[in-house]
Amino acid sequence: MEKVIDESVQGAALALDTKENNTRKLYIESYGCQMNFSDSEIVASILAGEGFNTTQELQEADLVLVNTCSIREKAETTVRKRLEKFNAVKKTRPHMKVGVLGCMAERLKNKLLEEEKIVDMVVGPDAYKDLPNLIQEIDEGRSAVNVILSKDETYGDVAPVRLNSNGVTAFVSITRGCDNMCTFCVVPFTRGRERSRDPQSIVSEVNSLWENGYKEVTLLGQNVDSYLWYGGGLKKDIDKATEMQKATAVNFSGLLQLVAEAQPKMRIRFSTSNPQDMTLDVVTTMAKFNNICNYIHLPVQSGSDRILKAMNRLHTRAEYKKLIDDIRKIIPDCAISQDMITGFPTETEEDHQDTLSLMEFVKYDYGFMFGYSERPGTMAARKLEDDIPEPVKKKRLQEIIALQLQHSLYRTRLHVGKTEEVLIEGPSKKSDAHWMGRNSQNTVVVFPKENYKAGEFVNVKINDCTSATLLGKAVGYSENN
Ligand code: SAH
Ligand code: F3S
Repeated sequence: MEKVIDESVQGAALALDTKENNTRKLYIESYGCQMNFSDSEIVASILAGEGFNTTQELQEADLVLVNTCSIREKAETTVRKRLEKFNAVKKTRPHMKVGVLGCMAERLKNKLLEEEKIVDMVVGPDAYKDLPNLIQEIDEGRSAVNVILSKDETYGDVAPVRLNSNGVTAFVSITRGCDNMCTFCVVPFTRGRERSRDPQSIVSEVNSLWENGYKEVTLLGQNVDSYLWYGGGLKKDIDKATEMQKATAVNFSGLLQLVAEAQPKMRIRFSTSNPQDMTLDVVTTMAKFNNICNYIHLPVQSGSDRILKAMNRLHTRAEYKKLIDDIRKIIPDCAISQDMITGFPTETEEDHQDTLSLMEFVKYDYGFMFGYSERPGTMAARKLEDDIPEPVKKKRLQEIIALQLQHSLYRTRLHVGKTEEVLIEGPSKKSDAHWMGRNSQNTVVVFPKENYKAGEFVNVKINDCTSATLLGKAVGYSENN
């Protein structure tokens, strides 16, 4: 493990070289947000140093890890069903150990060991460096739990093992935790307080990815615009920093600039932006660098001022609309996507209409829409009754999904007839004769393979579309290639 850590600090090769001597097999499954998928790559790296190679075959695993999500009740139910499946496999492989990682581990702690007999190990999102000790515990027949949240853990010194990678696009985490306390959200409880990762370690990781053939990175955080590095420590403790630390602090637009300059041909994306923390500085930096993609995931959750307030989203509908106008002034072809929640406690039909009219104003490129799911321990669960009947939540959800589909089609049609730069990610899921890639706006583009290869930047003439996909034909390499 030591070796892997040293390598990442120097920005050298990815952590793949510890594999040859490894004898045990790790099967790891991830659910939920991109951050969980990225965390699983860190876990695989730490375990590579402990004698484990990853396998895609559950049947041959010595250790099964499931990286879990608590964001909605359904996410937890899915994981509990998977545990049943692991239980069935364990009948034929009695030595197989099972660990639960991530947000469910943090939320339920020891309760998981009691409720799910199959589980040997429970590890929260800030405790992955303790895995070597925890594995030793379970190897010796004891159960093991570490759900301690940290003030400074960012895993900045661990070089992730890229799992299920297409070799072209990768996630790089830049902050952990969240301080926003949206009243519906379990994340501040499961992932702890917000802290930022050293920009040098981020740039090293991006450099290393480039050297290994990657062409696109997505910088990840629950709230990327709140990124702030002043030498370490919690975001909320910035007041305690020295004048020197404050003067040399790096914020998100500064980080974007550092990464964009370090690898001018690497495509850069980021997620997620919270409207209350997004500054125009970031948008200006996006406009300044060609390699930063013209796409912002900007969840709003509701179009009603009353509901936004009850959710503790610290902006108004008018402020959000102004932000959208400003973004489009600076980057006219910037794609914008949303997350929405229907049926938050007390939501009236009028509030719902406000959501629909805000969608009409923005005409999002696409979106992720959910019915409200009460999460134990959150402020909303403690203070507000989950009073919107399930059929009403569903009906409103269907209405916003239907409207989003119309808007998605409106947006994809605007691309038809244009020639756009696409980074090829791999074969299209539907046809082996076609490539799949994305344009700068993050819209999927599908076109005949011809002699092009995955990882190449090509110009594609768009000649047709569905609401989710652009169809076209490559007309040559782009100058970025
Ligand atoms: N950090 C992101 C959101 C992370 S959670 C942000 O700034 O918005 C991803 C999405 O899940 C949220 O945007 C929200 O739409 C949804 N979500 C979170 N908690 C939820 C809940 N209790 N019920 C339904 N949807 C929820
Ligand atoms: Fe959750 Fe709000 Fe943070 S949605 S992750 S508390 S920005």
